[in-house]
Parts: sequence; structure tokens; C-alpha cells
Amino acid sequence: MVEPTLGAVTIPHLLEKKARGEKIVALTAYDFPTALVLDEVGVDIILVGDSLGMVVLGYENTIPVTMDEMIHHTKAVTRAVRRALVIGDMPYFSFHQTEQLTISNASRFLKEAGAKAIKIEGASRRRLKLIEAMVEAEIPVMGHVGLTPQSIHHLGRFKVRGKETEEARKICAGAQDLERAGVFAVILECIPQDLARRITAKMRVPTIGIGAGPHCDGQILVFHDLVGYSTGYIPKFVKRYADLQAVIGRAVKKYADDVKAGTFPDDTHSFHRKSQRKQ
Ligand code: KIV
Repeated sequence: MVEPTLGAVTIPHLLEKKARGEKIVALTAYDFPTALVLDEVGVDIILVGDSLGMVVLGYENTIPVTMDEMIHHTKAVTRAVRRALVIGDMPYFSFHQTEQLTISNASRFLKEAGAKAIKIEGASRRRLKLIEAMVEAEIPVMGHVGLTPQSIHHLGRFKVRGKETEEARKICAGAQDLERAGVFAVILECIPQDLARRITAKMRVPTIGIGAGPHCDGQILVFHDLVGYSTGYIPKFVKRYADLQAVIGRAVKKYADDVKAGTFPDDTHSFHRKSQRKQ
């Protein structure tokens, strides 16, 4: 594991950023080389999201993702990170049984994988009690309201939440309940921007938006969406800053052409015996 640096991002830093009106930069990562780049660039929060199920494991949704898969990927990320706050995402059914099992699963992110906090979807009464119990067990928790992808079978499809007054009221109340339960930040996913602005103004802890407009205290995107290396449906809120899929496709095609033509490997990419070395 890489040695942590003195300037590492902590939860108090995130609260200070909100107080100063300084935006928090967050992204997902699921592997060592990506985490290295994100950390080097100065991203504040790296979330090992259960989105990894769809983005890098090829599942249809996040439901099949297991604790062991989350721990495996979180370990790869924390091995790379010196500065950013790494957060592990509680996958579906890791917190739906007993309080004891929930705390035990959450603690694996800290003890085994080296993360500094966990994220959990939802703000039901039972979820709030679990969050209080995790905070009591010294596990920092990030909340997540609005569109919660683990509810896919209830929702039918991923869609904007909180467009209607009653649902907007519930999302706002949920975010405030999460704050009272002890979370250090809340993800607001796929909600109207004026609702995100209202919630952000009411909260002491930072809001991190994804598809929630510009008024949140920070922003998060799925890294693979940002760099154009994801397949399938791309939501309206994603801004693509690169087209890695095309870049990789072109490189692999060139390699295949070179192999077929016998032009790779050439002399400079081959080893030689001492006696055969060129002068
Ligand atoms: O799983 C994930 O990556 C997430 C973010 C998109 C917020 O929950």
C-alpha cells in the first residue's frame, strides 16, 4: 500500500469546504491505475460505487454485486490512493438482514479494504437506525437519496425523482433525517436542480450531486461515463470529456493490423543475445 500523505482529505475538511463555499470534487474508481490518476489530479472523494457491477462487471443492474466484489475493488483503489477520501458502497443485501451483519459488512470496508467511510442508499426509518448504529461503531457514513439504483425493481427504470411535490418533500425530509442520523455527506442523485438547491441550503453537511444540477456542494460522476469508456445508456446529466472507447479501439485495431502484417514486434521491441547486439 502507498504511504498516506499529510494532506489527506478528511471528513472535517469536507465540512470546512462546504462552510467556505468551495466545491467538492468526487468521482468513482474501481481499480488501481484509475485511482492513481484521480488521486494525482486532486479529486477529493473516490467512491468505489456498486455501479462497478454494471460498468466493469457487465451485470444488468447493481443488484448482483456482492460484498466480496466490493472489497476486492476497494482494496485495489486504496492501494493507489494517498490523498483522496476513499468510500466503499454497501451493495444490495449487505444491510437488509440484521444490524449486526450490517455493521460487520460495513466494517470490512475499513478493516480489510482500507476505505475511510461507507455509503448506503435510502433514508427509511430502518435505514436511519442502521446508520446511527454504524456511526456509533465509528464507521463514517455517506447517505444517498433521490434516485437509488438498488430500488430498480420498484422503480421499473432509472428516472428523475422528486418532480412531484410529495416526492420532493420526501426526498428533502430524507436528506435532513440522514443528517440527524449522523451522515457526513449526502449524495443527491437525479433530482430537479431547484430541489437540490433547497436541500443544500438546509443542510450542515455537504451534498454531492449527480444529475442534481449546479447548486450542490460537490459533484460526482461515474469515471467511465466522464471519459467515454462505458457502454449502454448514457444519462442526460453526463458530460463526456473524452472518447476513450474510440481511442482504445483505434489502438487495438492498429496492433491487430501490425501483428497480422508481421510488423510487430519489430527489432526495437525484441531482445537480442549479446553477440547479436547492433554496434
Ligand atoms: O454506485 C455509484 O457509483 C454511485 C454513484 C453514481 C453516486 O452510487
